[in-house]
Amino acid sequence: MLSPGPAIPRSKDVLRRRTFAIVSHPDAGKTTITEKFLLYGGAVNLAGTVTTRKNQRATTSDWLELERKRGISISSTVLQFDYQGYRINLLDTPGHKDFSEDTYRVLTAVDAAIMVIDAGKGIESQTQKLFEVCRRRGVPIFTFINKMDRPSREPLALLDQLEDVLGIAAYPVNWPLGTGFDFKGVWDRNTQTAHMFERTVGGAHRAPVFTGHLGDPFIRERLDEASYRTVCEEVEILQGAGAAFDPADILSAKTTPVYFGSALNNFGVQLLLDGFLEHSSPPMPRTAMSGLVVEPHSPAFSGFVFKIQANMDPLHRDRVAFVRIVSGKFTRNMAVVHAQSGKKVRLSNASKIFGSDRETIEDAMPGDVVGIVGNDLFAIGDTLTEDPAIVFDEIPCFAPECFVLLSNPLPAQAKRFRTGLRQLLREGVVQEYELRDGGRNATLLGAAGPLQFEVVQYRLESEYGAESVLESASWAGARWIAPGAVLDDSMLSTGVRIAFDGVGRRVILFRDAWSLRYFAERNPGVELGSIPFDDPEPAVSR
Ligand code: G4P
Repeated sequence: MLSPGPAIPRSKDVLRRRTFAIVSHPDAGKTTITEKFLLYGGAVNLAGTVTTRKNQRATTSDWLELERKRGISISSTVLQFDYQGYRINLLDTPGHKDFSEDTYRVLTAVDAAIMVIDAGKGIESQTQKLFEVCRRRGVPIFTFINKMDRPSREPLALLDQLEDVLGIAAYPVNWPLGTGFDFKGVWDRNTQTAHMFERTVGGAHRAPVFTGHLGDPFIRERLDEASYRTVCEEVEILQGAGAAFDPADILSAKTTPVYFGSALNNFGVQLLLDGFLEHSSPPMPRTAMSGLVVEPHSPAFSGFVFKIQANMDPLHRDRVAFVRIVSGKFTRNMAVVHAQSGKKVRLSNASKIFGSDRETIEDAMPGDVVGIVGNDLFAIGDTLTEDPAIVFDEIPCFAPECFVLLSNPLPAQAKRFRTGLRQLLREGVVQEYELRDGGRNATLLGAAGPLQFEVVQYRLESEYGAESVLESASWAGARWIAPGAVLDDSMLSTGVRIAFDGVGRRVILFRDAWSLRYFAERNPGVELGSIPFDDPEPAVSR
């Protein structure tokens, strides 16, 4: 064991950290709420935010030209800022229609998530998928019901939907005062006060807020008679119904606290941020593969790579491994063991990445994310530690839902093509599969969503100068086969083939949901996994 750093007691510096992601269906308001958190945290001056929003995005969270062109965020960024004594690490999740493994991986590195729901639309498909990933990992979820300034569903119906569709108890922490154009503020159940907001032009500044009791004439006169009556009735129902607020239920992900508001107008943003910081947990322990529970205040440094991004900076063409620190203290130039190779490495080039800006990091604590620049040894899921007994297995591999065949049309560029593809596979942009009876001069790629293939093509060309051709492949699903399962060709019906993943594990490919069901019914003895069997999804110790 390398000599660990000095023992770190449960220091305030660890306890004040909060590491989380915002998850939502596209357009629900994730980017807007992120910006508003930055506005309240003072990290970005967002005056004129609405008109400059797309530019703002380009400088803070988008670095690929492709992202800018399409106005979407493909890769994740880490934003760090201080607010009221807390150190906040906000991990951005890709927010486009498509879905990528990157999103899943980011969720392995957080201790909580804020789920943003469009009040007019309710729970949408991607919110549901992301919620499931959080739930599987036991990640506490806070809910923000956004766009209350627009025609919305009934607040009670939205709460019912959380319980019915997602199966999680919902505790409304505050309640909307009016909806649509008449949305004036929220009533806070804890303090029993109404918070009435003023709109500011374009939501560029913090919304002025006035507080008082529901019966105060000042509050009454700002709500029309019908809204006021509805609010009073609803508040009465709330008071009489439902369970009491229990912070432990939030931390154990049994209950989601629900906040209503409008991110665009800054209504309810501060209540959400303050409530989140109060009730979310500081950095959580993680369980290593040996079963060892690694506490954040353990003296030995440890962390795991949850994302790799190459060529973020076109001028330098380097590769950044994003490491979530689990325990100990990171100091620049420290020597650690790269658990997967057993090699000792020095972490000399560490940066804080804020969009395309970088700042050298001298030290960092559990909960923080550091970008280690230029070390080719690191792959997604790898552990860096001062204590070789710690090896994490935090990054699950998910079954792809889309497939293509990728080939190189120009023999003269074969080397560039291979180098580029190898790098993108190591980054986990897509997964590679090989059909048992392959024979084609093309690589079969799988991904959680089809946009990833465009990213591969675009990056091969722009970063490696390699053209490529994409052809559709008629697979729609993959399942890993339990090791030792006996499988012969007679068991393979039409639309089913055996393949191997990038590390040689057996996989069955299916043409459609029907062939998957048919195979499973006819072969009950063959255990199928939507994650690899030798890569069981570890539970986060909570
Ligand atoms: P996303 O990251 O989840 O995809 O959503 P984003 O924040 O980009 O918001 C999607 C659209 O919804 C944006 O409008 C944004 O201004 C709007 N929006 C976000 N929060 C609210 C809210 O509280 N009330 C209302 N009325 N609208 C909201 P856009 O027209 O698509 O973009 P832009 O032209 O404003 O940039």
